[in-house]
Amino acid sequence: MTLEAIRYTSGSLMLLDQLLLPNKSEYIQIKNTEDGWNAIKKMQIRGAPAIAVAGCLSLAVELIPKQFSNVKELVDFVVTKLEYLVTSRPTAVNMLDAAKLYTARMTEYAKQPDLTPDVIKNKIVTEIEQMLEDDVNVNKRMGQYGGEDILGGLGNSSATILTHCNTGSLATAGYGTALGVVRYLQSKQKLDHVYCTETRPYNQGARLTAYEIVYEKMPGTLICDSMVAMLMKKNKISAVIVGADRVVANGDAANKIGTYQIAIVAKHHGVPFYVACPSTTYDDTLPDGDHIVIEERPHGEMTSVNGTRIAAPGIGCWNPAFDVTPGELITGGIITEFGVFKPSELQQKIRQAKSK
Ligand code: MRU
Repeated sequence: MTLEAIRYTSGSLMLLDQLLLPNKSEYIQIKNTEDGWNAIKKMQIRGAPAIAVAGCLSLAVELIPKQFSNVKELVDFVVTKLEYLVTSRPTAVNMLDAAKLYTARMTEYAKQPDLTPDVIKNKIVTEIEQMLEDDVNVNKRMGQYGGEDILGGLGNSSATILTHCNTGSLATAGYGTALGVVRYLQSKQKLDHVYCTETRPYNQGARLTAYEIVYEKMPGTLICDSMVAMLMKKNKISAVIVGADRVVANGDAANKIGTYQIAIVAKHHGVPFYVACPSTTYDDTLPDGDHIVIEERPHGEMTSVNGTRIAAPGIGCWNPAFDVTPGELITGGIITEFGVFKPSELQQKIRQAKSK
């Protein structure tokens, strides 16, 4: 059975509570945008694409039973809820991208006098529901582009990959971004080994990626974040592949804290460093990584593990959830659903692809 972070059937949304993994597999019911916002904020659902899909579906399940007396009332409702969902977590841009898209759609529909509130509501719900399938398709395309690019540099040999944080089925509607590339390699019998970092402080690697690796029967090994340099010195790593929460105009990429230092170590060891992200993670309204807002998370996520305090009481804490890897360290390329691009050519390539 496929691992599903998001279970949706028309009007019903269930999210796998990722805070309980790997010990318990339990779904929570999401009845409205408030439930969706809370699940995202608490990180019961996380990962940039999954945040957008689950957030928008939380709006869909709230919209379906609701009646609107006129188009303006419906448009105001949808736009307000989208703006609210965007405030759940600031760094990942996918939810903002979706909010802009559906706000523009609502504005278009509102200009068509023959459309009733019910018709518009059904149209927007259908478009939101389509995100589930679209995200999986985009991920599969990235998997293939990324996998072929990596294998192209290896002759006919299999790849050994290092990844960070969780970018698999749990972080998306299915298949995954960076882990999707690993999945593609496995499907071609070209995955020699995958290493995943623990990903402190919140352990998305140890809790979630390790779970997915075991679930998919991939040959995999967990390492602590502090072991990356040693791993690259001792073992032949073919490529590092990570996801992203926001990639900006000059190709700088925000991703889980620790990504930047892995990119530095990869450069030192001559290991190609790839970022895999759908075009919905690309934000060309920001010129460079210094403009990305970095979320800071509660200290308790760092000072305690599963409710047990591990840090000395009284110590100060700094807990940024993401860092920014400069484009020049993304030596392998940025893997998108349109192909694999150098950070410096990303803007032009994405514009070209979207205008077709
Ligand atoms: O804080 P998280 O767990 O939401 O962070 C997730 C990441 O950093 C992922 O690498 C990123 O969102 C891409 S997920 C396909």
